[in-house]
Parts: sequence; C-alpha cells; structure tokens
Amino acid sequence: MKCRVCRGPAVIDVRRHNANFCEEHFLRHCREQVSRAVEDFAMLRPGDRILVAVSGGKDSLALWDLLLEAGYDVDGLYVGLGIGEYSDASGSYARAFASNRDLCLREVHLREEYGFDVPAGARAARRPPCSACGLSKRHLFDRAAREGGYDAVATGHNLDDEAAVLFGNVLRWEREYLARQVPVLPAVNGFPRKVKPLVRLAERETAAYCVLRGIDYQVEECPMAEGNRHLGYKAALAGIEAQSPGARHSFYFGFLERAASLFREDRDAVAAAPGTCATCGGPANGEICAFCRLVERTIAPPDAKAECEVAQPVALVERPAGGRTG
Ligand code: AMP
Ligand code: FES
Ligand code: ZN
Ligand code: ZN
Repeated sequence: MKCRVCRGPAVIDVRRHNANFCEEHFLRHCREQVSRAVEDFAMLRPGDRILVAVSGGKDSLALWDLLLEAGYDVDGLYVGLGIGEYSDASGSYARAFASNRDLCLREVHLREEYGFDVPAGARAARRPPCSACGLSKRHLFDRAAREGGYDAVATGHNLDDEAAVLFGNVLRWEREYLARQVPVLPAVNGFPRKVKPLVRLAERETAAYCVLRGIDYQVEECPMAEGNRHLGYKAALAGIEAQSPGARHSFYFGFLERAASLFREDRDAVAAAPGTCATCGGPANGEICAFCRLVERTIAPPDAKAECEVAQPVALVERPAGGRTG
C-alpha cells in the first residue's frame, strides 16, 4: 500500500477517496478536509472566538486540535453528564488534553449546578436518556457561548454522524429537522452560531488522526446509548458504505447540494423569534425553555404528584436548537 501523494509506505486507506496515505499526508488530508468544510460553508471567520464542545471522545478532541492547528482561537467546554464511570473517564481525557497544551477548558456539571444527572433527568422526563442528554447539552453549549462571548460553538459531528441523522430524518420525512440539518446554523434569537467542521471526515479518520497525533481519548461508547435508533442507522449505513465506498458522502453532500434548500421555508419558520425563558433568560418557545422545564421535573418528579394526575412526558425540544439535528 503506497501513499497517493509521495509513494512512501501508507498507514491508512481512505476508500471513499480511493486513496492511501502515509502519516504526513494523512494528517494533511484531515487538515484539508476541515479547511474545505469551513470555507465551503463559511463556518468561521478569522478572529472568531470559538467554543468547542469536547466530550473526551476522538471527534471533539481531534476537532480542537485541528482548529488550533489552523490558527483559531479556541477554548473547550466539557459538560459533566453524570453517567457514572463513563463520564468520569471522559472528563479526564478532556482535562488531560487541555492541561498538556495549556488550553482553557470550561466545565459545567449537571449534578452540581442543576441537581440532576442524565439518568435522573431521563427518569423524570419519561424520555430515553439520549433525549434528556441532548437537550441538556444543547442548552449548556448555548448558555456557555452566550456568557463567554463566543462567536461560534463547534461540535465534533463527523460524516458518519451526519449521514446517520439524515437517514433517520429522511425515513420519517421530518421536515423541520431536515431544514436544520446543515453544517452551519447562523446565530439567531439568542442562539450562537453552530458549526460542524468535521463533516468531511469519517469516524475512522478522526480515530486515526488522534492515534497519529498521540491524543488519548475515551474509546468506550456511552452506556446509556445502547440500542438507540441512531446507532442502528449508523450500522445500516456502514453496511452500505462497505459495499459502495463513498455512498455515505454522496448521500449527505447530495442532500446539502440538491435537497436542503427545499426545506428552507421550514427553517425560516422555525427561526421565527422565540421568546425569553422566564427562568434562565435564554431563548424559549413558551414562557419557560425546555431545559428549565426538565430541571423543574427533576425537582418535582411526576411520581410525587397527585395520584390521579397522569404524568405526561416532557417535550424535550427547544426550537431552533432542538430536534435530531445531530
Ligand atoms: P454525541 O451527541 O455524543 O454524538 O456528540 C456529538 C458532539 O457533541 C461531540 O463531538 C462533542 O462536540 C459534543 N459533546 C458530546 N458530549 C459532550 C459533553 N459531555 N461535553 C461537551 N461536549 C459534548
Ligand atoms: Fe448522552 Fe449517552 S452521552 S445519553
Ligand atoms: Zn505520503
Ligand atoms: Zn430556561
């Protein structure tokens, strides 16, 4: 196996590009894919202050490294979700990355600041853990960006993630979510700009990037995500990709080029001004935002209410940041 660029011994094949790369040229490939995504979608501007949401996993740590290498001013944000040892270990990887490079890592811990963790939030909301988790993360990312005066929040969603989310949204023709499934969402109504600079890199590439750059990351999957639909879509697309390399890329980028604009109206409708949450001051659809409703639920769980009152699941969507947009 020879490197496509220098003909030296290759360390990885990227079948989607019909190419093999040596270490040096693979790292260059990753940097090029990120800068191309950033430019094509006008994600970032020179001088922007960026907050990268770091989970301690390969994608977000690779992203932090790649953005720093590209010369951006980037701080990290780790959200402690309280998922037992998994969260403890994830936080340690994020902290180690930051302290080895003398970077600023902000931390917010659900249990310490809001009195609940993801398992308790999911029980109180009567929703799957990933819903309570996703809602909490989105809210805390937005809030940290607002309070810290950042221009954009960057997340480590990669091509595999985005294609799997798209697959799920297409299966159910979720117009609102399809409208928002773009790699950059402009700042609107108190929500910061959201960017996904890794959309041109597959999961396997971000893992290889970390190994080659000596970045230690959390290898375990979240124990609460077991059996969730998103993982099923990912596995289905992995099967298709194995048979037709490049299928995932064509599916996702074909959508962006040829179909995303068809949902533009839905996106504009969703972006139409929500109000301000009476509790936290953040953007809200009703009087109180979905996150603050979840917090209320955890303080007064439905079981503690009058027996005749049937507990309804909490709506865990706050527009425009909500839904399955990755
Ligand atoms: P996931 O939703 O777990 O697939 O993660 C998608 C992206 O969200 C990651 O690449 C990170 O950028 C961000 N993220 C996930 N979990 C956390 C966390 N606990 N703290 C901060 N950012 C996170
Ligand atoms: Fe959120 Fe697993 S990381 S439920
Ligand atoms: Zn080479
Ligand atoms: Zn609120």
